[in-house]
Amino acid sequence: MSDLSYISSRGNRAYHTVVRPDFELYFEASKNIYHAVDNPHGTFPLNVADNNLNWPILSERLQKIAATQEIPDWVSGYTSGLGHETFRAALADFLGVFLAKRPLDPANIGVAAGATAVIELSAIILADKGDVAVFPAPAYPVYSRDIMNKAGIERYDLITHHDSDAIHHGPILSIEHLEKAKRDIELQGSNFKLLVVTNPDNPTGGLYTVEHLEAIADWCIERKIHFIVNEIYGLVTIDTTDPAIAGDYLDHRQFSSFLSIIHNKNSPYLHQWYALSKDLGISGMRVGMVYSLNQAFLTAFNNLNLPHMVSNHTQWLMENVLGDHEFMRNFLDAQHQALTKGYIVVVDMLKILDVPFVPSYGSLFIWADFSKFLFAETLAAEIEFWENLYKNTGVLLTPGIGFGHTKKGMFRIVYTCFDDEALRIAMKRIQYYLASLATTVKKSVE
Ligand SMILES: Cc1ncc(COP(=O)(O)O)c(C=O)c1O
Repeated sequence: MSDLSYISSRGNRAYHTVVRPDFELYFEASKNIYHAVDNPHGTFPLNVADNNLNWPILSERLQKIAATQEIPDWVSGYTSGLGHETFRAALADFLGVFLAKRPLDPANIGVAAGATAVIELSAIILADKGDVAVFPAPAYPVYSRDIMNKAGIERYDLITHHDSDAIHHGPILSIEHLEKAKRDIELQGSNFKLLVVTNPDNPTGGLYTVEHLEAIADWCIERKIHFIVNEIYGLVTIDTTDPAIAGDYLDHRQFSSFLSIIHNKNSPYLHQWYALSKDLGISGMRVGMVYSLNQAFLTAFNNLNLPHMVSNHTQWLMENVLGDHEFMRNFLDAQHQALTKGYIVVVDMLKILDVPFVPSYGSLFIWADFSKFLFAETLAAEIEFWENLYKNTGVLLTPGIGFGHTKKGMFRIVYTCFDDEALRIAMKRIQYYLASLATTVKKSVE
């Protein structure tokens, strides 16, 4: 029964709005996943940002907590819309030590069901329908849905470059870029209300420096524009000094959290988003948060958050995990090492294939330029290459469509869902396929 007359016009809009264009193939590929022994001809979905690298360590810990600790009484009842106080305290303490490297106040935290819910609520509370949120391109495709579906906020993709060489050594978003975006938006009769950057970046893995973030923050505060830094990949960084990749970087900059800048500037226009989905690899447990000194924002968040709250049982479990700093230090070290190893497997092959990529400092991705394999510089050619690559190799990449960038042929590779051995096989399959393409082109020229 899919007669659309039975649902509202809002329902009709939702019916026609897919979350992302690669989900259908993703679910198909997920039914036939590669396994060295059980399914050696299986597929490699490398398109969705999951991080399975150290799940066995975390799942063992979760099982131990569930088996040995008594569930507190507060778990069974209603709790604050901002999150239970003991969980917010554990989160503030954990992020203070591991991410911000300064004390954080749990009163400035609002917890919701994953970064997605936090982004949607922030858009609803900070901007009005028809206002514009600006994202330096390329940016996470689903931001469009998160800010538009309920809040009705428009996405503006701010183009700072065309060829990815320009961002090899970090994001290049400048005040001139921001001024231009503001002029464009105002010429169309709209308001530039939000600026969002992801740090480390999805999909490029670029890192903003403190000075860069401060300059942008000052510009935003002066113009009453909310500036939000999404630090959902803040603790999955790469060891750029590893001899296998050190030469790819001009500098070995480290991640610096926006949380210190929020405190130093003490402004109602600065906010940080975070979630446990990527750093801990638990996207399915739906734990996200916002940090803000804007108390009106937090009160509104509390009042609107009831449909998006994190289950108290999950809050209790994660409070226990995050509170054990020794465990977390070892776990995050293991993540750092596994991430660096997987990253090296993929970029080693990209170098052999002479496929340009942006050297990454963090996140779960490599943003690579396969444009030379397209028959034309068009979206149709990009989609055709992507589908053919999947059909011929079983390797599914994230297509560039939706990232808001101008260059066709850019693809995102997620390298955190398979171990090194499996990743090597996936990259070999890509190598054979691209070699067969080159032979076909050569034959047709002859
Ligand atoms: C930049 C960014 N923000 C938000 C999300 C969504 O995170 P969550 O699963 O916590 O809702 C993702 C997931 O890929 C992401 O890359």
